[in-house]
Amino acid sequence: MSSQPASKAPALSAATTALFERELAKYPADQRQSAVMACLRILQEERGYISPASEQQLADYLGMPAIAVHEVTTFYNMYNQAPVGKYKLNVCTNLPCQLRDGARALHHLEQRLGIKMGETTADGMFTLQQSECLGACADSPVVLVNDGTMVSFMSNDKLDQLIDGLRSAANGETA
Ligand code: FES
Repeated sequence: MSSQPASKAPALSAATTALFERELAKYPADQRQSAVMACLRILQEERGYISPASEQQLADYLGMPAIAVHEVTTFYNMYNQAPVGKYKLNVCTNLPCQLRDGARALHHLEQRLGIKMGETTADGMFTLQQSECLGACADSPVVLVNDGTMVSFMSNDKLDQLIDGLRSAANGETA
């Protein structure tokens, strides 16, 4: 899925700016850029992803260059550059994990979901990404779900169980 609107970002709501200001209060007044990561998280929770227009909007708000905001959003893969599925799966393919079946796990998920790395399933359920080291090399293969839940030692069977479980959870929520 790569439908990224080139349009303007929606106006910042009062609730959003209140959250921004709460983060800014943690830093000296002349160091507003220090709140960039927290503000990006707030924007992403509200909008689902960080568009170039959102980067510009936040840059203007914080008084920093848009390219500096872009450098942050592209360095950390917890920030989404485009809309993602309900479940974002990050498979670690850094070298230590490559030596312990990380690529096999990614390939299995590609086969199982019918998508390539970086894509989202047609039903909007899953986005598959590779990631840099997640700090759990000894537990490889590892997968980070929605930037918050780590699952370890992911054999093909365990990957299948993960997909089935997440689908069930999603269906249960909407039943
Ligand atoms: Fe994969 Fe460290 S290299 S968790």
